[in-house]
Amino acid sequence: MHCITLLLAVATTTVFGNVIVPPSTWNYPYPWPVQYQNLTSQRLNLSMAYMDVSPNTTSYYTNKTIVLLHGKNFCGATWEDTARRLSTNGYRVIIPDQIGFCKSSKPPSYQFSLQQLAYNTYSLLQSLGIRQAHVLGHSMGGMLATRFALMYPNVTSHLILTNPLGLEDWKALGVPWRPIDLLYKDELATNYTSIRKYQQATYYVNTWKSEYDVWVNMSVSLYRLPGENTTFAWNMALMTDAILTQPIVYELELVKAKTLLLIGMKDSTAIGKAWSPPAVQAKLGKYDVLGKEAAKRIPDAELAEFDDLGHSPQVQNSERYHQALFEWLGRSS
Ligand SMILES: *[C@@H]1O[C@H](CO)[C@@H](O)[C@H](O)[C@H]1NC(C)=O
Ligand SMILES: *[C@@H]1O[C@H](CO)[C@@H](O)[C@H](O)[C@H]1NC(C)=O
Ligand SMILES: *[C@@H]1O[C@H](CO)[C@@H](O)[C@H](O)[C@H]1NC(C)=O
Ligand SMILES: *[C@@H]1O[C@H](CO)[C@@H](O)[C@H](O)[C@H]1NC(C)=O
Ligand SMILES: *[C@@H]1O[C@H](CO)[C@@H](O)[C@H](O)[C@H]1NC(C)=O
Ligand SMILES: *[C@@H]1O[C@H](CO)[C@@H](O)[C@H](O)[C@H]1NC(C)=O
Ligand SMILES: *[C@@H]1O[C@H](CO)[C@@H](O)[C@H](O)[C@H]1NC(C)=O
Ligand SMILES: *[C@@H]1O[C@H](CO)[C@@H](O)[C@H](O)[C@H]1NC(C)=O
Repeated sequence: MHCITLLLAVATTTVFGNVIVPPSTWNYPYPWPVQYQNLTSQRLNLSMAYMDVSPNTTSYYTNKTIVLLHGKNFCGATWEDTARRLSTNGYRVIIPDQIGFCKSSKPPSYQFSLQQLAYNTYSLLQSLGIRQAHVLGHSMGGMLATRFALMYPNVTSHLILTNPLGLEDWKALGVPWRPIDLLYKDELATNYTSIRKYQQATYYVNTWKSEYDVWVNMSVSLYRLPGENTTFAWNMALMTDAILTQPIVYELELVKAKTLLLIGMKDSTAIGKAWSPPAVQAKLGKYDVLGKEAAKRIPDAELAEFDDLGHSPQVQNSERYHQALFEWLGRSS
């Protein structure tokens, strides 16, 4: 009798109430105050962290808003340099941490998709009363920005992609599907050495500067976060599956926004390369070709290439990256 009562109580809670997943306890210092957008999603009450940076200029107020979308191995905080420069040039800068990442809620179970994250980001902009924005994304954030632009063409006035993922369909090129449980094991094995090795090879063209360590250590601290580390690893595994299975490359012709591709040509990032046979590996992640192909297919696109930079040109050579960004922003209003 006791047993049945208990089961009914559990069932009732599951069906009619949402589970609250509080914001992350991760106390990594961010450059601006962190605010939280509460959202109800997939029967969960979640909190999405974001920074809202005001334009910092007395000479010119453009009334433009830009949204910066972080990559899978980065966080909102990684955009500090870019956000400062944009703010100084009159932009209001919105910098979310996606659900599952960084300071946002890390749900024990969530159907991660590029579409869901785009919708969450759209909901944040709606609640802030932002009707139109520039959207800039790096890596996974670039893939997300593209999905966002496809779903919300009226909101996305300009699209800026920095070494985005998804410029090719890895599975169609032969990358085998990897069970999420194995992706989870990969994530659990993450440490300083594995992250640095990966970033050195793909982000920084086999060079290393001590200033790159900041972002490695930031990432490591999430994988070590007491009480959240395994959930974080699980979230990352689910996200990898979403990135691998939800291509954007077939829809590039449908992008309406004015687009700028900022591409480090020495990048070789490709999801699934690590577990693919050598013949498949050899075909993937050729950003010297991928940038040009994408720029041809997106109707209103321009391409700025950096022949000596890797996956994170904004970190590797901030001056050149931002010069190219502001040059385009200045003449593409
Ligand atoms: C958002 O949710 C958290 C609990 O996760 C709660 O503490 C906070 O008060 C909520 N904020 C708002 C504005 O409702
Ligand atoms: C979850 O959020 C909704 C509003 O979106 C609220 O009505 C509900 O009470 C919340 N659930 C819990 C358990 O806090
Ligand atoms: C605005 O810019 C000035 C000068 O560049 C700087 O001293 C100040 O701290 C900035 N304010 C904010 C809020 O970023
Ligand atoms: C910026 O927006 C504010 C509030 O909507 C408006 O009052 C102001 O005129 C706008 N400024 C420019 C330069 O468009
Ligand atoms: C988007 O803009 C077009 C053209 O201005 C308009 O016809 C359409 O209704 C808008 N869609 C939404 C969802 O606002
Ligand atoms: C880090 O992880 C790699 C493989 O993921 C492993 O070979 C190495 O021993 C680990 N290093 C440390 C210090 O734990
Ligand atoms: C990052 O972590 C490594 C390894 O734990 C350490 O040697 C290094 O000093 C740290 N660097 C920074 C900038 O925190
Ligand atoms: C996760 O954190 C717990 C402590 O909360 C620790 O016992 C465990 O070793 C950590 N796991 C990893 C993979 O860092």
